[in-house]
Amino acid sequence: MAAHDRILIIDFGSQVTQLIARRVRELGVYSEVHPFNKVTEASIKAFDPKGIILSGGPASVLDIGTPKAPDEIFTMGLPILGICYGQQTMVAQLGGKVESGHHREFGRAMVDVTGTSALFDGPWQPGAKEQVWMSHGDRVVSLPPGFTVVGTSEGAPFAAIADEARRFYAVQFHPEVVHTPHGKELYRKFVREICGCTGDWTMAAFRQEAIAKVRAQVGKGRVICGLSGGVDSAVVAALVHEAIGEQLTCVLVDHGLMRAGETEQVVKVFRDRFNIRLIAHDASALFLGKLAGQTDPEKKRKIIGATFIDVFEIEAKKAGGADFLAQGTLYPDVIESVSFAGGPSVTIKSHHNVGGLPERMNMKLVEPLRELFKDEVRALGRELGLPDDMVGRHPFPGPGLAIRIPGQEITPERLDLLRKADAIYLDEIRKAGLYDKIWQAFAVLLPVRTVGVMGDSRSYDYACALRAVTSTDGMTADFYPFDMAFIGRVANRIINEVKGINRVTYDVTSKPPGTIEWE
Ligand code: XMP
Repeated sequence: MAAHDRILIIDFGSQVTQLIARRVRELGVYSEVHPFNKVTEASIKAFDPKGIILSGGPASVLDIGTPKAPDEIFTMGLPILGICYGQQTMVAQLGGKVESGHHREFGRAMVDVTGTSALFDGPWQPGAKEQVWMSHGDRVVSLPPGFTVVGTSEGAPFAAIADEARRFYAVQFHPEVVHTPHGKELYRKFVREICGCTGDWTMAAFRQEAIAKVRAQVGKGRVICGLSGGVDSAVVAALVHEAIGEQLTCVLVDHGLMRAGETEQVVKVFRDRFNIRLIAHDASALFLGKLAGQTDPEKKRKIIGATFIDVFEIEAKKAGGADFLAQGTLYPDVIESVSFAGGPSVTIKSHHNVGGLPERMNMKLVEPLRELFKDEVRALGRELGLPDDMVGRHPFPGPGLAIRIPGQEITPERLDLLRKADAIYLDEIRKAGLYDKIWQAFAVLLPVRTVGVMGDSRSYDYACALRAVTSTDGMTADFYPFDMAFIGRVANRIINEVKGINRVTYDVTSKPPGTIEWE
């Protein structure tokens, strides 16, 4: 198996550290994020990077006992790029000076490119003014031996510094965020040219290597995989199937809370197109029975989660059991669990994993997506030939439509109304070419009846809310600014086509303070 060039990112707890890893991977170079307090000289040597990036972070190097990079990194002969806090600790550790900024900079700033550097060579020419994103209180005030200034800003006279001989570079701003429009170029210079990485880490390569790893791990064992209709489980199933074929069985537990046509599509793609052994169990009556009389969101979640596991286990046993459970764990989940700061502050609620099952059934885990970000999983899905609409699908919560009928008992009638309204809304979004611009869009059936007039008669029916948000990770979100004509068109169709809904509203709440789902 080819060994790819690697970049090590040492994390000091910045909110945007993961973006650094993504920028590097977009350049075809494999990178991993390791928390500063877990990195040792031995672990770096074992990882064998061609360069190191020091992330930003919330600490101040002026405080006692603040995070440091292991001193050894500065004598290993590897190129190093420090970002924000990464710059400050690099300067402080190499003999320069940082002080508390008299001039804090948050947000957009302009950097004057004042010198030449291998990091800038090309797009960032001396004399140019570059827009960057700053977020710092402290700043560098004197440089360690060997460094020169190559860029300055109003609040950061040492906005970009370089020691070309040792190949150490550091910037006060954040080149990984979109508000530094030419930031990607700096990563390209550093990773591809200064570190000399070849950029051979592609999804095609990943696919072949992941298949070999699954084969090596599983041997002749049997693997079971829960399919939900979501992107992650679909990609896991397609990949594992390519690796071990008939040794894989997929189980789809239909809890009756899916959207219109969803279960059918999964069955069609996996059973008919991919020829995967798939058990689809319609357990909707069981789930609805257990949910009877329940209106509390957390109770609904618990019931659905527990019932899901029960049904999954029964089906898995019926299929003859398995030695392994294949699961769509992604890299952000892995980083979160090791980050010294506890990682990003919000964990996305997850109900669709089969928590507890591996132990109960004595199965080992197969997690071939552990190294990937969501956008990479999508790229891998395309590479594996999954249909575009499955790969590009909006996230959908494990408890499904049950948490989109807030404060009410879940009944077949209400599910039917919601499915119809939701399908119309998504249809219009697709027709308008907006689906891929939106993180998640869905309808919510409200616990309120309103009076309307339809033709000559009075109606007294449900109201529904439409929600659409943009987001990069589901942790924060903004409502999507449709034009009113679009909302009007959707509302008109829902009211005319869904008997039982006579009023439509649009939710303009961002997250925070709202959440994406209503429950
Ligand atoms: P919230 O509503 O917390 O949602 O802003 C953030 C993301 O998580 C999804 N979500 C869930 N996913 N089980 C899941 O698997 C759940 O119980 C659950 N609740 C919310 C939500 O759809 C959004 O993508």
